[in-house]
Amino acid sequence: MKVIQVVGARPNFMKLAPLHRALSDSPIEQKVIHTGQHYDAFMSDIFFEQLQIPRPDYHMGIGSGTHSYQTAKMMIGMEEIFLQEKPDWVIVYGDVNSTLAAALVCAKNNIKICHVEAGLRSYDRTMPEEINRILTDQVSDLLLTPSIDGNENLMKEGIDPQKVILVGNIMIDSLFWSLDWINKHPEVAQPAFNLLNKYQLKPNQYILVTLHRPSNVDEPEKLEQIINTLGEISNKTPVLFPVHPRTQKMLENLKLQKYPHLFFETPVGYMDFLFLQQNALALVTDSGGIQEETTALGIPCLTLRENTERPITITHGTNQLIGSDFDKLRFELNEIIHGRGKKGRIPELWDGKTAERIKHIFIKML
Ligand code: UD1
Ligand code: UDP
Repeated sequence: MKVIQVVGARPNFMKLAPLHRALSDSPIEQKVIHTGQHYDAFMSDIFFEQLQIPRPDYHMGIGSGTHSYQTAKMMIGMEEIFLQEKPDWVIVYGDVNSTLAAALVCAKNNIKICHVEAGLRSYDRTMPEEINRILTDQVSDLLLTPSIDGNENLMKEGIDPQKVILVGNIMIDSLFWSLDWINKHPEVAQPAFNLLNKYQLKPNQYILVTLHRPSNVDEPEKLEQIINTLGEISNKTPVLFPVHPRTQKMLENLKLQKYPHLFFETPVGYMDFLFLQQNALALVTDSGGIQEETTALGIPCLTLRENTERPITITHGTNQLIGSDFDKLRFELNEIIHGRGKKGRIPELWDGKTAERIKHIFIKML
């Protein structure tokens, strides 16, 4: 059996790593396509290095563009590769444009699709990711869900239950693997350690921020309001903000007030970001993956979104939705500072063994 795994953006790489490792230790032949949706070294290469993923067999170098331009260009390039390689299965991850592009090409060419992280729904179709999730799931042949809500969503959409398997959260495989690696080789997180020293940040005494959702960063007024709120918060508790390139582009056009304890940085590597999360008092974010990682790590997470496709991080975990309610943000941070932050537990099957479960599903098909 031959599978092709397709990745393209930052949140794909830590999902690919464990399954690539598991399939390497199996009779299944695998190849990797990197679409090049993310291309800066700190958004792509560093993840391959730190997670020890071999160089992709194909690097398409698509780069940035409008949704249609980017998706269409990926589709044309991938169709050529699939027709030549003739895979039995194509594996796609999550909800980025690279995911949908691969799924559409497979559906049009009768190639079987396996969607890892299927079934998540925010029920907010203004999010480009929600469109990618719904369409990818509709054309997938094997839908592997990270939590039971995923199965429930897919049943509501009339997906054949025989195609849907609850396998757990593959991101957490990478998280546990990497924490163990950092433990054994602390030098891999040296850049993160250096950042803490550079800004004199002490464990449990800083807030870590990431923001990149169009709803938060694409409108200058909204972004400015968020930065000013974070600036004000930083007067009390320092804030470290590794800035996503989308957000960086927007920040460059703003005339921002200076805050001495709000520290902007470029994005950091995966191991570094895990180290920074582990040591943070709390996270303020709009990232999907970080809502899950904080739940696994037991660190309070305040999410600047009105909804989440990962409700289990709220029902079971440490996540809270803040939306754009900055009074609530200040209140909840104050609660956390006073030791009254939200506690949680790790959801079922977020146990570091998801890739092994997926491998066995494929082996049974041989
Ligand atoms: C994409 C995903 C989003 C995911 C996020 C993770 C889609 C629709 N969106 O959003 O779901 O949460 O990745 O980070 O697939 N840029 C660079 N260098 C890079 C990559 C991007 O400078 O290596 C800049 C470009 O100006 C680009 C912009 O960031 O136009 C946005 O990149 P894009 O991949 O289109 O969307 P993201 O906002 O990164
Ligand atoms: N991450 C990272 N460096 C950073 C910020 C985030 O390695 O500077 C990691 C983070 O630990 C998580 C993933 O990137 O594993 C989340 O990706 P992102 O927020 O870009 O996308 P989303 O999950 O929102 O789709």
